Amino acid sequence: MDWKINSLEEYAVAYQESRNNPDKFWGDIAESFTWHKKWNEVQSGTIKDANVKWFEGGELNITENCLDRHLEDRSDKVALIFEANNPEEEAKEYTYKELHEAVCKAANMMKDLGVGKGDRVCLYMSMVPELLISVLACARIGAIHSVVFGGFSAHALAGRIEDCECKLLITNDAGFRGSKVTHLKEIADNALNDLGKTSVEHVIVHKRVGNNIEMKEGRDIWWHDIYPKASSDCKAEVMNAEDPLFILYTSGSTGQPKGVLHTTAGYMVWAAYTFGNVFQMNEEDKYWCTADIGWITGHTYITYGPLLNGATTTMFEGVPTYPDAGRFWEIVDKHKITHFYTAPTAVRALMACDSEFVKKQDLSTLKVLGSVGEPINAEAWNWYNKEIGKEKCPIVDTWWQTETGGILISSLAGVTEGKRCFATLPLPGVFPALMDTEGNIIEEREAEGNLCITRPWPGMLRTIWGDHERFKQTYTSAYPGTYFTGDGCRRDENGLYRITGRVDDVLNVSGHRIGTAEVENAIGQHPHVIESAIVGYPHDIKGQGIYAYIIASENHHEDMIKEILEVVTSEIGPIAKPDKIQIVPGLPKTRSGKIMRRILRKIAAKEFDNFGDTSTLLDPSIVETIKDGSL
Ligand code: PRX
Repeated sequence: MDWKINSLEEYAVAYQESRNNPDKFWGDIAESFTWHKKWNEVQSGTIKDANVKWFEGGELNITENCLDRHLEDRSDKVALIFEANNPEEEAKEYTYKELHEAVCKAANMMKDLGVGKGDRVCLYMSMVPELLISVLACARIGAIHSVVFGGFSAHALAGRIEDCECKLLITNDAGFRGSKVTHLKEIADNALNDLGKTSVEHVIVHKRVGNNIEMKEGRDIWWHDIYPKASSDCKAEVMNAEDPLFILYTSGSTGQPKGVLHTTAGYMVWAAYTFGNVFQMNEEDKYWCTADIGWITGHTYITYGPLLNGATTTMFEGVPTYPDAGRFWEIVDKHKITHFYTAPTAVRALMACDSEFVKKQDLSTLKVLGSVGEPINAEAWNWYNKEIGKEKCPIVDTWWQTETGGILISSLAGVTEGKRCFATLPLPGVFPALMDTEGNIIEEREAEGNLCITRPWPGMLRTIWGDHERFKQTYTSAYPGTYFTGDGCRRDENGLYRITGRVDDVLNVSGHRIGTAEVENAIGQHPHVIESAIVGYPHDIKGQGIYAYIIASENHHEDMIKEILEVVTSEIGPIAKPDKIQIVPGLPKTRSGKIMRRILRKIAAKEFDNFGDTSTLLDPSIVETIKDGSL
């Protein structure tokens, strides 16, 4: 990989080159991959016209780059380590050769069911190797994967199935997660029943738990009945550079979750380049990212990024606190993990536990620590650095989003300097700008504003599945000609970036993105809810907690709060359950009927001293009433 950056000077040179000569810069990097046909144009289209393309005319298959390419030199190297939920269960390892074979078999299994190029396949699974294998198997045959996090409800799953019109659904009978069992097949059945007429022709069920489930004749097939018979010889489908690779649904500030679409070549180059440069792994190193493949982090930094780099990647089925709060550190010790990537919420949760859990384990193999998903606060950073990294591991605070495909702003481990609570510097090819409220770029170095990206980068989303207008409206029209991230950001005197959090109505709860509108819609399903408003508030472990203000009908009853939690769980999933619910007689609305969320946020955060200008409120006295009843 001659694109690997090894020093601060090399970073500076690469950054300049990516600015001055982007086509040559990215063209050279792309040369290091396997192509069936070279591209005609490195980059075409603009953010302004919402038609960005990378490597147009090129032909390739991403799995040949993840797997086949390594068979010569790394055939017996471990590609994937699987650590089960139960520590007593033996870990599983797949070499590159074995993973290649498994992916080819799974690909043929899908093909035998009539799934092919351009078809959508929905994966609603727990964190078992078959999930990663299915992701790659889709890519092998050119099917578009849409992974739905196993914690989402039947209703949420149904919405995603309906939106992407998938032909095949793959699930587990059930999944292990800590002391709980999630009944995935049953939930999937409910989703399909809700939909009635559906695009789903078949459901492949992978047996993990062995519980009793119903199999619908003609539709449901056991993985173990067809996978063993499938051939391990599967030629990779030749894809165009801009053919869709996957859809991943994420929450926005309005409406239903949107299907972020990533395409093949640009995403591949971005996943590989960012993984290689941010984590700086050596051949013998072992990498573990604790995310779930149901989120973008698990797509880019458990699956594609590490495999494109020929690294050893680890998948963990369970949760950080099962059977006890030492589990993460025990796994690091057991598998001699060198590179560890997790979310601040996990760090904060584990930091609050007995320090013996950490001390018991040998963490001396660790070389690099990563953080992702939300701003990391100073206290958590200090603990992570001292107790886990023993002050010898660089911490990469990686800022990015589902839409960006991979990391945009981060230090490069051991190469560029980190700074506590700062994501620090943009990667080569990333050109950030801070915008003022009028939409002008703030030129001063030290500044705070809304974060935009001014030029296309290879890993950028191309559209929202089935709704290109929404894509334009959400990302490219707020600050015309640039990509708007939805995040606020501060730049210090040295030009380092610190992400301050969302500036729109999107919450970040335990590193999960949740739209306030989505939760409000869910709550609105309760028959006694007249109106609701959701805001975030600072939460010690989760980063943000969910605070719900609800106007209830007169005849509401005591069980209402419990029922609301149930409604949210069934409409979205347990991750979107409000932490606090306050029944209020009214909401602070302006004369034009707009809810003044600023005030609600202040009350939720217990900042009662200054509500700012409330004179435009229809009924200013409501503020005091809400404040008096606040939780
Ligand atoms: O607000 C930012 C926050 O997470 C949002 C993106 O969420 P999602 O698409 O679910 O992707 C999460 C994993 C990449 C961003 O808009 N965020 C992500 N990483 C950081 C962060 N905030 C601060 N620091 C980070 N390192």
